[in-house]
Amino acid sequence: MNRYGKPFAKGEPVLILDRKDREYYDILEKDKVTNIRGDLLQHNDILGREEGFILESQRGTPYRIFRPTLGEHTRLMPRGAQVIYPKDLGMILIWADIYPGATVVECGLGSGAMTSALLRAVGPRGKVISYEIRGDFIRNATRNLHNFIGPKKNHIIRQMDIYEEFVDDHVDRLILDVPEPWRAIEKAAPHLRPGAIVCSYSPTVLQVKETVDTLRRLKCFTQFQTLETLLREWNIEGLSVRPNLRMVAHTAFLTFARRLQT
Ligand SMILES: C[S@@+](CC[C@H](N)C(=O)[O-])C[C@H]1O[C@@H](n2cnc3c(N)ncnc32)[C@H](O)[C@@H]1O
Repeated sequence: MNRYGKPFAKGEPVLILDRKDREYYDILEKDKVTNIRGDLLQHNDILGREEGFILESQRGTPYRIFRPTLGEHTRLMPRGAQVIYPKDLGMILIWADIYPGATVVECGLGSGAMTSALLRAVGPRGKVISYEIRGDFIRNATRNLHNFIGPKKNHIIRQMDIYEEFVDDHVDRLILDVPEPWRAIEKAAPHLRPGAIVCSYSPTVLQVKETVDTLRRLKCFTQFQTLETLLREWNIEGLSVRPNLRMVAHTAFLTFARRLQT
């Protein structure tokens, strides 16, 4: 678990950067060694130290040692399912207005990337309930969550098919990352409180169309909005001041709607 501002302890994730800014990720353990293409870094030389220092490997190569941010953890942690990328996590937190104390239902848990961001945003007074159909994904996500934010009493995992059953009430926010979100919306709609916000994350426009058609047909939603986030990084080095040549051109569309009283 990530212990911000404190010396590194075992069980924590660590971010290792080489001279070319390539990123390596590991979980710190006593006597463990990280092998970077045959170059060895001893975890005993990291444990007990504050982040932001330079560690020389066995071959004398310098590496910068940091705690991964939530975004870095999301990109580098072991994956079961495809994760929601940091650019979209940021949008979801603000556009779906995830607030301290909220009860948020998400589906599916996947690798737990969205869950880490949600648990941080709802804080100790809030609650995150994750529906996930696959046991192997639940085990992987639980490990990722424990590694990054530690076990949380306010996180509930339900191994269930959300298209079949929705068992939670007074839900403030619903975040969907499943292949057929419209089926989940039909099940969940009666359990959302008036004013609740739904956010659906879908890679294709066919999914978006079906989702928005369903939201409109149910006649208990309003304020429909669909958007995507394009993130373009820039290179600033000497006279080379220009956009990067490569970018992630597409991840998914975000669709939002708000529950009306019925
Ligand atoms: C793309 S992944 C979610 C990734 C997750 N949002 C993250 O950021 O790590 C989709 C997940 O939904 C789960 N899933 C698909 N259909 C489901 C259903 N009907 N009920 C519950 N979970 C479902 C899949 O097993 C998979 O883990």
